[in-house]
Amino acid sequence: MILLYTVEALVPILTVQLVWAAAMAMRKEKERHRRMAIIHAASVWGSYILVWVMMLMGHAFKGTAAKWIVDIHQVIIYLLPALLLVQAPTGLKGVRWVHIPLGVTYVILWVAALVTGAMIFLSARGYM
Ligand code: HEM
Repeated sequence: MILLYTVEALVPILTVQLVWAAAMAMRKEKERHRRMAIIHAASVWGSYILVWVMMLMGHAFKGTAAKWIVDIHQVIIYLLPALLLVQAPTGLKGVRWVHIPLGVTYVILWVAALVTGAMIFLSARGYM
């Protein structure tokens, strides 16, 4: 259960960072976008490592969600940190034709992760 609480605490923080970074990008505030995107990327990677270490320590998700929901969720959460490894150099080097469409893809995948994550959360709490 502690793992679920940890993820529940981290996800809103990471989401606020992403909304902020995306808002700055859309307002063409490049320097502020760059700063918040770097903070977001570091926080995402830090969170993944924390969750991974907790799982190595024996903590686990005791989900009851349907397998297809968990499968979709897992594919997305493996894609997100990988995408950030492309977003950082393309953003910093100004390779906009890669960075902007991948940025849009990243936001869409993030929302999909939130929706499937919420379904897993609700099922773990017995609401689904
Ligand atoms: C570590 C990750 C990231 C870094 C270091 C970064 C950095 C940058 C930089 C420096 C630019 C300006 C590029 C230029 O025009 O020369 C930029 C543009 C942009 N970034 Fe990122 N970025 C990152 C992640 C993201 C993510 C996750 C998104 C999705 C919301 C995103 C969306 C955009 C968009 C839409 C623009 C274009 C803004 C405009 O029209 O001027 N970036 N990024």
